[in-house]
Amino acid sequence: MKISLSERMDSFKDSIFTELSRYKNKKIAEGAEMIDLSIGSPDLPPPTFITTLLSKEVTKRDQYGYSLTGTAEFYKEVSAFYKRNYHVQLQHDSDILLLMGSQDGLVHFPMVFADPGDLILVPDPGYTAYAAGIAMAGAKPYFMPLKKENKFLPKLSEISKEIAAKAKMMILNFPGNPVPALASRAFFEEVVEFAKKNNILVLHDFAYSELYFEGKKPISFLSIEGAKDIGVELSSFSKNYHLAGARIGYLAGNPEVIKAMNQLKSNLDYGVFLPLQKAALIALREGEEFCKRSREIYESRRNLLVGGLNELGWQVVKPDAGMFVWAEVPKGWSSLDFTYALIDSANVVVTPGHAFGPHGEGYVRIALVQSNDELTKAIDSIKQSNIFR
Ligand SMILES: Cc1ncc(COP(=O)(O)O)c(C=O)c1O
Repeated sequence: MKISLSERMDSFKDSIFTELSRYKNKKIAEGAEMIDLSIGSPDLPPPTFITTLLSKEVTKRDQYGYSLTGTAEFYKEVSAFYKRNYHVQLQHDSDILLLMGSQDGLVHFPMVFADPGDLILVPDPGYTAYAAGIAMAGAKPYFMPLKKENKFLPKLSEISKEIAAKAKMMILNFPGNPVPALASRAFFEEVVEFAKKNNILVLHDFAYSELYFEGKKPISFLSIEGAKDIGVELSSFSKNYHLAGARIGYLAGNPEVIKAMNQLKSNLDYGVFLPLQKAALIALREGEEFCKRSREIYESRRNLLVGGLNELGWQVVKPDAGMFVWAEVPKGWSSLDFTYALIDSANVVVTPGHAFGPHGEGYVRIALVQSNDELTKAIDSIKQSNIFR
C-alpha cells in the first residue's frame, strides 16, 4: 500500500533542528567530543521535595484513574500563587485550566480560536511550536519582528490597520525563547489597548517566568489592568522547576477562553497523572527557595559564558532573564554558516537564529544548559579555533 500524507503535513517538514542533530551525531560517531549548547531542556534535577513526594504518591494504588482535569486542590494553589506572586485574582473554578505541559495549550490554542486563513500575530523570531499550532488550525502567521533597536519588543504601531483588523490572535513570550527579552509594563499596557481596539485575543507564553537575574522579575501579563478581558497566560513547570519530562502546565486568565479550551481538551485527553498534579502544586507552594537557587546557577553560567565570549572577541549581550544567550554572529557570517563553523572548528553546537523566523538571521541561540565546566571548555575550544583570529 502506498502511504500518502495529508496536505497539512507539508507544514511539518524536517527542520533545521533535525539536520543539525544529524550532523552533530555524525561528528560524535567520528570520535568528536561535542559540547551541546543547542538544547532547550534544563540539565539540572528537580527539587528533592518534589521527587520525594512523587515517589510516595506513585505507590498509592488509588492514584491511577483518569484525572480528567485539574483537581480543585491544584487550581486553588495556582490561584494562591498568582495572588502571592503577581497580585492577580484568579477564580480557581473558572479562570485556570490544567495542561499536559504548556505546549499542549500552545499548539491547541489556534484551533479553538482561529479558522483556516485567519491571521495570528507572532513574534519573529519566536518559539517554533507557535508555527506548528497555527499550521494545525490552517491559520496564517503574521510576523512581528523583534529588533535590537526596539529592545526586542514588537512595534505595534508598525502593524497596519488592515492587518490589525484581520488578526484574530496575538502570541507573546517574555522572557522569550529564543530572544530572552523582558516586557515592560508600558509595552503590556499598549498590548491591552491594541487588543481591545482591534478585538484580538492575546496569549502570553510565560514558560520562563522564574528565570531572571539581578532582581529583574518578569511581569505577569495578567497583572496589567484589563488583560483578563482580552487574554490568557500560559505557565510551565518544565523550566522553573526542572520538570520538563513530567508533562504539566496550566493556562490562566479570561474564563470564556478557559472554558472554550477546556471544551476542546475534554475531547482530546484525560488529564494529568494525579501524583504529578500534587507535585506541581507543592512546587508552587514551596518552590521559592529552589527557584532562587536555580536562578543563581543560571546567572553564574550566564556571567561565565558572556564574559568568556566577550574576552575572546565575540561581543554578546548579557540576558536579563530566560535560559538563553541571543548572540549576534560576527560580521560576514550567516547564522547557518557560523553554526557549522562552530561545530567543525570548535565542537560546539548552538542553534542558528533563522530556525526561529526570518528576523533570527544574523544571530545564534546559546542555551545555558551545561555546567560551568562545560561552558569553560566551550569557551576554550572557541578560543583555540580560528574563528576569531
Ligand atoms: C517559549 C516556550 N514555551 C513553551 C514551551 C513548552 O514547554 P512545556 O514543557 O511546558 O510544554 C517551551 C519549551 O521549550 C518554550 O521554550
